[in-house]
Amino acid sequence: MEILGIDVGGTGIKGALVDITTGKLTTEKHRIATPNPATPLDVANTIKQLVNLFNWKGLVGCGFPTPLQHGKCLTGGNLHKDWKGVKVDQLFSNTTGNDFFIVNDADAAGLAEINFGAGKNKKGVVLMITLGTGIGSGLFLDGKLLPNTEFGHVLYKNGEIFEKYASDSARKRDNLSRKEWGKRLHKYFKHINLLVSPDLIIVGGGASKKFYKIESEIDINVDIVAAEAENEAGIIGAAMAAKDQIK
Ligand code: BGC
Repeated sequence: MEILGIDVGGTGIKGALVDITTGKLTTEKHRIATPNPATPLDVANTIKQLVNLFNWKGLVGCGFPTPLQHGKCLTGGNLHKDWKGVKVDQLFSNTTGNDFFIVNDADAAGLAEINFGAGKNKKGVVLMITLGTGIGSGLFLDGKLLPNTEFGHVLYKNGEIFEKYASDSARKRDNLSRKEWGKRLHKYFKHINLLVSPDLIIVGGGASKKFYKIESEIDINVDIVAAEAENEAGIIGAAMAAKDQIK
C-alpha cells in the first residue's frame, strides 16, 4: 500500500510515494523550493503543486518542521511567525482536497529509522536527532514514539538554545570547520545524553551524509550512528505516521 510522504523543510519541500510495508520510495522524489517568506498560504500552495505532480488523490503524511500538537502548529519557528496556531492538517486538506496527517519532521525521520533503518528492532530508548536548518528530536521506547519532543530547544547559555549554536545552519553562519562543528556537537550530545540516557542516538537531517566526518569529535558513552535513509527518512516516516490513520 502506498501513501504520499511529504517533508516540509526550511529550504525545500520534498515528496514521493512510499510503500509503507517496505519503507521504499515507489516514485522519484520531487522537490520544490520552500517559498520565502514561508507563509501558510504560500506553503499550502506549494504543497498543492507537489500533490498535483503526483496526481495523488489519497492520504498524505506530512512532516512539518515546527513544534506541533495534534496537527496544530504551536510556533512558526524557522518557517514564519504566521504559522502559530494554524491547524496545519486542516489547511493542507482544504487546499488540496486530500486527507492529511501532520507529524513533526524529526518524529517522522525517527519513525523511518525505527521501522526500516538504524533503529530497526532496537529495544530501549532510541533518540533521533536531526541536524539541518534547526535541530529536531524524536524519542522512542521499544519502537514506540513519544511525540513532540523539542530537544533542539534545550538551553545552551545566556538564554540561547542549542539549535542556534550547533545546527547545520549555525555551522554555515559561523563558517565552522568540521572539527569546530564537531566540538559544538560534542557539547550538545554530551548534555542530551545526560538528560535522556538513550541506548542509541541516530543522527539524521541534511548532515547525516557527512556524519562520518565529525563522528570522531563526539566522545560520549552511547552508540551514535548516522540515519540509514539519510535525507529520505523524513518522507518515509511521514508516510509511516499517516499509516496509523487507516482503520
Ligand atoms: C523545530 C522542531 C523541528 C526542528 C527540525 C526546530 O526548530 O522546533 O520542531 O523538528 O527544527 O526541523
